[in-house]
Amino acid sequence: MHRKVALLSLIVVVAILIAGGIALMADEFTAKDQQRWQEEFMSVVQTGRELWVSPELGANGVACAQCHPNAANTHPETYPKFQQQLGRVIALREMINWCLMNPLEGVPLKLDGPRMVAIEAYVAYERRGVAMAPGKH
Ligand code: HEC
Repeated sequence: MHRKVALLSLIVVVAILIAGGIALMADEFTAKDQQRWQEEFMSVVQTGRELWVSPELGANGVACAQCHPNAANTHPETYPKFQQQLGRVIALREMINWCLMNPLEGVPLKLDGPRMVAIEAYVAYERRGVAMAPGKH
């Protein structure tokens, strides 16, 4: 009887060690992985930058960069926050679309589409290092 309990305990301990080992391995990544991820991120930022300065994004030949050179006055770190234009607390993406539809008279971007992600990545990258301040005006 005692042997059975001991064997069972041993099996449980081994199973925990194996599961723990697999969990640890899942978190392991190499410098090469990190470099690739950074390169992919920077390539999306670059796409965002191209959209930012492009008169093609909207419908009236105006580009985001004309009013927000280098993403100036976009304050991504303050989102989500209350915006008077929409009368509620909104995400940065909704404000991006608001400017796209109003000053640029364009068609809103799909909120989870690659162009929206690229613009968000560009804006956030320009403001890297700025402390998060959700809700701030
Ligand atoms: C004609 C000038 C003009 C253009 C062009 C323009 N914006 Fe804006 N944008 C504004 C103004 C004015 C505000 C301030 C509105 C406010 O915060 O009440 C603003 C606010 C913003 C904000 C929020 C800033 C904050 O402090 O919360 C974001 C984000 C933004 N614009 C993104 C864009 C994007 C993306 C584009 C291009 C699609 C764009 N803007 C084009 C004038 C412009």
